[in-house]
Amino acid sequence: MNTHDLQSTAQAMVAKGKGILAADESFGTIEKRFKSINIPSTEPNRRAYRDLLFTTPGIGEYISGVIMFDETIRQKSESGTPFPEVLKRQGILPGIKVDNGAKDLAGFPGEKITEGLDGLRERLAEYRKLGATFTKWRAVITVGKDIPTRFCIDANAHALARYAALSQAAGLVPIVEPEVLMDGDHTIGRCEQVTETTLTSVFFHLEAHRVVLEGMVLKPNMVISGSKCPTQAGVEEVAKATVRCLKRTVPSAVPGIVFLSGGQTPQVATDHLNAMNALGNLPWELSFSYGRALQDEALKAWKGEKANVTAGQKAFAHRSKCVSAARYGKYSAKMEMAAA
Ligand code: 13P
Repeated sequence: MNTHDLQSTAQAMVAKGKGILAADESFGTIEKRFKSINIPSTEPNRRAYRDLLFTTPGIGEYISGVIMFDETIRQKSESGTPFPEVLKRQGILPGIKVDNGAKDLAGFPGEKITEGLDGLRERLAEYRKLGATFTKWRAVITVGKDIPTRFCIDANAHALARYAALSQAAGLVPIVEPEVLMDGDHTIGRCEQVTETTLTSVFFHLEAHRVVLEGMVLKPNMVISGSKCPTQAGVEEVAKATVRCLKRTVPSAVPGIVFLSGGQTPQVATDHLNAMNALGNLPWELSFSYGRALQDEALKAWKGEKANVTAGQKAFAHRSKCVSAARYGKYSAKMEMAAA
């Protein structure tokens, strides 16, 4: 493991004004996304859609890295260039999702454990050869009656730490993603409490596994009200609660934090990131690694039709530009009007 290389890659992933595109939807998830625009999830459709995103002109100005799925990292652009190479030419770091998904945690109804540690060492070596420079592993924490349990949080934190250590040993920067789901009617206070407990456990296990904090990136949820909570916290409250929670739990040795969007609309996810960066006085870079919030508008504009590729790319570039402005706390609703 070359700590210096890990550190410079991690810093490049959270470079000023830039963030990460999560385009690592598994077969099941991309099928759901394509269903929303009434197209089937075929290999040519998946390839064409990722091609649209990765070849968007000038996108490297806002996007530092892209997380791909196993199928995607092996696919080629219409021009015949492998996707990792397409990204590199845009000045974008290729990344790869390496977990095998969240499965039911036996004995703990309603809770999940992420699988994929067996054979991970070998898969990491292959991904590195395919051009990956960083990896992602997502753990899911569900909030509900009597859950999450301490056991579920610790089991997921332990797996995240084992993954992160293996990833660094393979020379790949790990994105450590413990996601407290926004599904449910819980309050923002409950979200903050669960997120704080989860992140505390995650960093305990990362330290125990000798993970180099300077050579990793954290991908947490924002602290927000449950999607079915009758009282929805406003933008300022979300920003303050999220930053407070992160300051309590995330060591300043970590170069950057990249949020998932988790089901927030593109505008809300942009607003929240903007408000956090506007607070200032932060010990780490606060950035994004959105899937849906970066892609929803592009997907709707594309509709699976070749004639709409430019419209899809425009929508993707517009959202990326807005979120990039939010990295500086300089996003405003005016930017949306300019696009309209
Ligand atoms: P969303 O931003 O759509 O939540 O996706 C981010 C991600 O990578 C989840 O693992």
